[in-house]
Amino acid sequence: MKRCIRDLVDLKGKRVLLRTDFNVPLDDVGRILDKTRIVAEIPTIKYLVERGAKVIICTHLGRPNGFEISLSLWQISLVLMQYFPGKVQFSEKIIGDQVKKQIESLSEGSILLLENIRFHKEETENDAAFAKELASLADIYVNDAFGVCHRKHASTYGVARLLPNAIGFLVEEEINAIQDAMTNPKSPFVTIFGGLKVEDKIKVLKNIINKADTVLIGGAMAYPFLAAKWISVGLSPCKPESVSIATEILKDAEARGKKILLPIDHIAIRMDDRKKKPFVTDILDKNMVACDIGPKTISLFESEIQKAGQVIWNGPLGKYEDPKFKNGTMAIAQIVAESKCYSIVGGGDSVSAVNKSGKANMISHLSTGGGATMKLLEGNSLPCLDVIQERIV
Ligand code: ADP
Ligand code: 3PG
Ligand code: MG
Repeated sequence: MKRCIRDLVDLKGKRVLLRTDFNVPLDDVGRILDKTRIVAEIPTIKYLVERGAKVIICTHLGRPNGFEISLSLWQISLVLMQYFPGKVQFSEKIIGDQVKKQIESLSEGSILLLENIRFHKEETENDAAFAKELASLADIYVNDAFGVCHRKHASTYGVARLLPNAIGFLVEEEINAIQDAMTNPKSPFVTIFGGLKVEDKIKVLKNIINKADTVLIGGAMAYPFLAAKWISVGLSPCKPESVSIATEILKDAEARGKKILLPIDHIAIRMDDRKKKPFVTDILDKNMVACDIGPKTISLFESEIQKAGQVIWNGPLGKYEDPKFKNGTMAIAQIVAESKCYSIVGGGDSVSAVNKSGKANMISHLSTGGGATMKLLEGNSLPCLDVIQERIV
């Protein structure tokens, strides 16, 4: 059991560096689409504030290449201000004298949100000097960034080893819920995979097949699998390296009697149609791009979900941000929510989609993690939690 903030005795006046995962989904003009990851963090922040800590919050947003105005955390500071009026400041600087001075002048029980940590390339490189600079800002490090605990970055891994540390309430809750589902899975165990981070998730899928009975694949994740079966994917996203992993996975699943179901129809557009009008099709010809699963696929997936004892879902089944392509994801959200199974939905976009469907309260556990949730489900530990001290009992 990891040491939790509840176990820290004297927080008054202490500078606490709190790593959160406020990597929220944004629309195409950069507005926040879903605040789940921020709202889920409020209990931890509140606890630290009420005990008089100086709370320095650090998070990433997106995958910027240097400074990008659309990925500034300024708008997130405005959301925090609604929860903690008069207590929130924002710092454009992440390290250095200016931010140190700002921290010094913070009153007890107030909050300083640092700018997007990924504006520094040293973050993802887990640069030792950068981690040391971050550590010099605080007395205690708290990791509550469940969604990014699978990434060994400076603010999630490097800095944790340089300060007394603990986890926050969100990480604690996530670990309890997910480990419980893995230790006692109710069968049949169905996993649904979708989304866009195919290169990350396809390796996870390879391992999860050991645990699941049935795997349903949609979204951009489906095309390498269709291609591996020599089914045309037209111009839909599909990298050759993913096709070779998909081929291996399909072979392995067949040998072990596991069921993998892929889309049998699609909502697609034609690249040679100037109006890009969506239509339903079973076959993707060379000018077509698939953007959502079609009605026959929804029924096929529904029949498996109805039979499931446990469903774990990561990744939207289409480009759900666009109303023209949200139908597949919304339909599956409704089916999962209304089925009798134990259900976990994980991932920034997946949770946002389920919230949009209006059925979020019928999901057993909404996880703020995507890749991190999947890593835990695979049976792996999360490297950024391995470096957190154990609780002394
Ligand atoms: P999560 O955040 O839930 O882990 P991802 O970040 O992997 O999920 O994927 C979410 C993204 O996947 C969304 O932006 C969505 O538009 C995209 N997506 C889903 N299906 C498709 C598709 N068929 N083609 C292109 N993008 C897709
Ligand atoms: C997520 O959204 O899954 C986490 O915030 C991690 O983001 P990343 O995949 O860009 O590291
Ligand atoms: Mg996402």
